[in-house]
Amino acid sequence: MERTELLGIIKAEQEKEGFVSEEAMAGMAQKMGVSVGDVYGVTTFYSFLSTKPLGRHVIRICKSVPCFLKNGEMIAASIETELGIAPGETTADGRFTFELTNCIGACDQAPAMLVDDEVYGELTPGKIKEILQSYD
Ligand code: FES
Repeated sequence: MERTELLGIIKAEQEKEGFVSEEAMAGMAQKMGVSVGDVYGVTTFYSFLSTKPLGRHVIRICKSVPCFLKNGEMIAASIETELGIAPGETTADGRFTFELTNCIGACDQAPAMLVDDEVYGELTPGKIKEILQSYD
């Protein structure tokens, strides 16, 4: 089976359930005649796929060099302070999941982040507070 075919099936599961559970991976492996390790490998390779349930909104802070050089770490720290969670965690109310990611293609607006599919650039701690308040 082509890796792209497997990726399509995994993406469909992610869209339907919000994440890809171990049970789902086992089911896909059996159905597609591949090992669970293959399904797991593809699922964990892509940052937009998750093996854990995610919050209603997913914040992805860019950790690549151009953003890092423009205080990307300070932005990540202000998210941690605002939400009280570390990268890889979800708020107790299920509102936000916070992740670090590689370049999101907005280097000209560094430091940048994604909230769901929305790109935010030239971030400051003050802007972070404002942006987070606009999500329910
Ligand atoms: S390096 Fe951060 S968006 Fe490209």
